[in-house]
Amino acid sequence: VAPLKVGIAGLGTVGAEVVRLIETQARVLAGRSGRGIRVVAVTARSKAKKRGVDLRGVEWARDPMALATHPGIDCFVELMGGAGDPALSAVEAALNAGKSVVTANKALLAKHGLKLAKSAEKHGGALNFEAAVGAAIPVIKTLREGLSGTGINRVYGILNGTCNYILTRMEQEGLSFAECLKDAQRLGYAEANPSFDVDGHDTAQKLAILASLAFGTKVAQSAVYVEGISSIAPEDLRAASDLGYRVKLLGVAVRTAKGIEQRVHPTMVPKSSSIAQVMGVTNAVTIDGEGIPPITLVGPGAGGAATASAVVADIADVARGIRANPFGRPIAQLRDTKKAPMERH
Ligand code: NDP
Ligand code: HSE
Repeated sequence: VAPLKVGIAGLGTVGAEVVRLIETQARVLAGRSGRGIRVVAVTARSKAKKRGVDLRGVEWARDPMALATHPGIDCFVELMGGAGDPALSAVEAALNAGKSVVTANKALLAKHGLKLAKSAEKHGGALNFEAAVGAAIPVIKTLREGLSGTGINRVYGILNGTCNYILTRMEQEGLSFAECLKDAQRLGYAEANPSFDVDGHDTAQKLAILASLAFGTKVAQSAVYVEGISSIAPEDLRAASDLGYRVKLLGVAVRTAKGIEQRVHPTMVPKSSSIAQVMGVTNAVTIDGEGIPPITLVGPGAGGAATASAVVADIADVARGIRANPFGRPIAQLRDTKKAPMERH
């Protein structure tokens, strides 16, 4: 069987790790996918920048659009970020050309996911985005496949590694917000614009994706109430601690009689609770399904290696010929997002 030919746009924290993982895990991937996976072309802003990975024999595409429509690739991997261009046009062009797309870009999916899923459905390519929520945690597959026979009442958790890392270090080491954020950026956890992390928008984007999968509604970031952590100081965490609580930035999507309530805000959780034990860059997602006890998935929520693990798994699914409905069901069956009032906030 011919190898799957992959083109990667974006060679930063995640993209470079994806190139490395495809190379180091080549035998395992070929065994599990039944065919090889080959990176044939890449692109980024700077051709001259050192990436720490071997790109000998890999073509450098002129720009993301040229790569997305490259006749020699089967699968376009978008790892540039941002809800607008060039990511949006390039992903659309790849899907319209019948190619499969793998992306970790929650900003793009939360804003344009429905439109992109429609293109994928029309032209037959896959649109895979496991890495967009919870990095290495397989939460998309859990909601889309593992729990496809279970009604979901609530999905909630810690969905942003940068914020949990900042809150953990502020509490444990008494460091300032700014110092902790700087370290999160250095470690490759934060978004290119870290206000997306600390102002709660990244969590909101992830929550909107999870809510769509859980409740069969159209993904809509605009339906999420958002409050971030940027005004929290070490003294606030100490005061919470004195009362027996820890502060966590939570994303909560819950089915109510009036619609789907979606909210992101700092929350005081009892120190004895399991969610209070989730520290550092770790994420945790709890799914309350009908007739079964809650399921909680915990794991690394940001960083190059953790994110690349999910991106490469998505590429392997393309190599195997697996093509899921991006949001769990055919587009025509997704319901309008009925935004519930924030009664219980
Ligand atoms: P980086 O900023 O580290 O890398 C972005 C890459 O995209 C760089 O290689 C950059 O090129 C390239 N790029 C940016 N703009 C353009 C453009 N206009 N044309 C061509 N190339 C461009 O980001 P990350 O790797 O951290 O994130 C990538 C995606 O993965 C984002 O959507 C992010 O939200 C998502 N993600 C990130 C996680 C993480 O922990 N970092 C976790 C989960 C998801 P150059 O290097 O030349 O500047
Ligand atoms: N900036 C994001 C975070 C990356 O810190 O969670 C993972 O999506």
